[in-house]
Amino acid sequence: QLQLFKTQHINYFFPVFNLGAGYHSESKAKEYKHVCKRACQKAVDRLRAGAMALEAVTAALTELEDSPFTNAGTGSNLNLSGDIECDASIMDGKSLEYGAVGALSGIKNPVLVARRLLSEAQKGKLSAGRIPPCFLVGTGAQQWALTHGIPPCPSEKMATKFSLSAYKRNKRKMELAEKIETEHHFLKRQRTSSGTPISSSLDTVGAIVVDQEGNVAAAVSSGGLAMKHPGRVGQAAHYGCGCWAENAHDARTYATAVSTSGCGEHLIRTMLARECSTAVQAEDAHQALLEAMQNKFIGSRFLASEDGVLGGVIVLRCCKCGDDQSSENLQALLVEFLWSHTTESMCVGYMSAHDSKAKTHISRLPPGAVAGQSLAIEGGVCRLGATND
Ligand SMILES: *[C@@H]1O[C@H](CO)[C@@H](O)[C@H](O)[C@H]1NC(C)=O
Repeated sequence: QLQLFKTQHINYFFPVFNLGAGYHSESKAKEYKHVCKRACQKAVDRLRAGAMALEAVTAALTELEDSPFTNAGTGSNLNLSGDIECDASIMDGKSLEYGAVGALSGIKNPVLVARRLLSEAQKGKLSAGRIPPCFLVGTGAQQWALTHGIPPCPSEKMATKFSLSAYKRNKRKMELAEKIETEHHFLKRQRTSSGTPISSSLDTVGAIVVDQEGNVAAAVSSGGLAMKHPGRVGQAAHYGCGCWAENAHDARTYATAVSTSGCGEHLIRTMLARECSTAVQAEDAHQALLEAMQNKFIGSRFLASEDGVLGGVIVLRCCKCGDDQSSENLQALLVEFLWSHTTESMCVGYMSAHDSKAKTHISRLPPGAVAGQSLAIEGGVCRLGATND
């Protein structure tokens, strides 16, 4: 079963986008739009000051992590013992360097640690020829951050009234479910899933950026699942799963940047970020993304046993390939922005360096569509001239 939104053409150039795939109530939607706008603004400010895509994407993510309404950084879901453990990663399309952290506690902005891992690796080998790390987890990641001058932040400061009350509610639900299961001598293995399900925010955040030279960068950050198992790491930290960025080069017509959100386990097992990046090298990006979401995600052989597959992607593709009409302006960047999701909704924001304000949009599945089995896809195209057109 497949439901579609018509592609909506928006005559804008969009270098920045953020997302959270998940359910967005009307009140939450408003907060989400505000956060998206601020994040776009932060990134565009950096671009206007001459920063490259990597720096701009970091600025957007920091803003998203700092919002108490997103499941990333401050406001993240709490783990079983009431602590916050975050995942984040970042990729630079120019150098193709990558940095990631998993199950990281006690740091306000996990994306800054990922960013720092990326830039430290660019400096080359460590003493005695050791290879610098690109992905660190747990206490090792935390220690590395502290020794690299990133200040600690206690979990209590990152928890919010909302995340704490969700934690208490979830804990009661879990205890009740476990009590029922033992009283009725259910086989432990028999996943009865009694009681109301744990409420867990799937609102991972991400951003993708293209700068004026055509460099792309992507990043993603997540607080993970509520009541998660110790050591659980989601897609936001996994290579090829949470984000992907690759500039155009000889054998690659388009620069692409992708960031994903949703159920980490589904996104890891399908390597969705890289799949989408590869797919949209095809001529028709909209059709290619639609097919990737259908065949490599909803219909993926790797998720055949799942009743619903939950996720969302934002995809940016651009080329300097000025077509015939624009041959007088070879530097024109053709930018296409697409988003697609199988969750109820996804919040997207975008802004160009020529805009005075960011645009935001809450994309929803059409009425009657089943989340996890249907998808929505939308997007737009625009041309950014090197001249002031
Ligand atoms: C929750 O996170 C803290 C901080 O990383 C960790 O020490 C603790 O073991 C985690 N607890 C569980 C149950 O995952």
